[in-house]
Amino acid sequence: MAFFRKIAYFIIKKLNLIRGKIHLNDRSGGLYRAWGYIFSNHIEGDYVEFGVYKGESAVSSLESYSEFYNWLQSQKFDNENWRRELSESSPLNQKPFFHLLDTFQGMPQNNEHPLIFKKDSFLSDFEKVKKKISLKNNLNIIINFYKGTFKEKTLELQQSLKNKKIAILNIDCDLMESTIDALNAVQSNIDIGTIILFDDYNQFKAHNEEGQRKAFRVFQNNSKFIFEKFYSYGFVGQSFLVVGQK
Ligand SMILES: C[S@@+](CC[C@H](N)C(=O)[O-])C[C@H]1O[C@@H](n2cnc3c(N)ncnc32)[C@H](O)[C@@H]1O
Repeated sequence: MAFFRKIAYFIIKKLNLIRGKIHLNDRSGGLYRAWGYIFSNHIEGDYVEFGVYKGESAVSSLESYSEFYNWLQSQKFDNENWRRELSESSPLNQKPFFHLLDTFQGMPQNNEHPLIFKKDSFLSDFEKVKKKISLKNNLNIIINFYKGTFKEKTLELQQSLKNKKIAILNIDCDLMESTIDALNAVQSNIDIGTIILFDDYNQFKAHNEEGQRKAFRVFQNNSKFIFEKFYSYGFVGQSFLVVGQK
């Protein structure tokens, strides 16, 4: 089945019936859209992912990024002058860093969900994940891995980011406490234009007082920025844009 789906997708792409994954509403489609938004606006900044597990979304992100980067390069040979000029001068000729954070040993201790997100669920093998992601790194992007809890790795991440901005912030860690730690770690690196993906925004029955919803609501109240809902994706994911300052 997967084989036929791949062939169908290949034919559809060859015939130019769809561009990339813009019609896919799963996680990889959500990431494709995020990179499309970044390239449409020529927004410079790194990719930061909190919650890597076995590396699926990190690989999707690398693949989407590569597709848009190659498109940008192809624009340099376009027969329209403005396209050539724009692609030559785009800040996106500079490749972003990818920052990938996880315990790589499963969920940390928490009391948030007795069933799905209990400690040690989502176990992964750090070396295997690193290898899997590196194999997809055709453009030789600098990828920094941070193995440990988000709290433990905050300083290291901040030292690596310094004052660089984040273009895409992908928070896929399910829990409220983890989302709070993630948002706190990068609060000075987001800016107008940053897109934030919350993969689990509508978990916990979309209860406003739980999970990522609660974490982000509190964060918004204390932030100097104004955020706006963008698109939803997958079963429970929601993206936001940073659209202004208070
Ligand atoms: C749903 S999984 C991520 C899925 C992944 N993005 C993918 O593409 O398959 C959630 C991950 O968040 C990690 N996580 C949750 N809270 C964390 C924390 N406080 N510190 C580090 N990792 C955390 C877990 O270890 C787990 O691997």
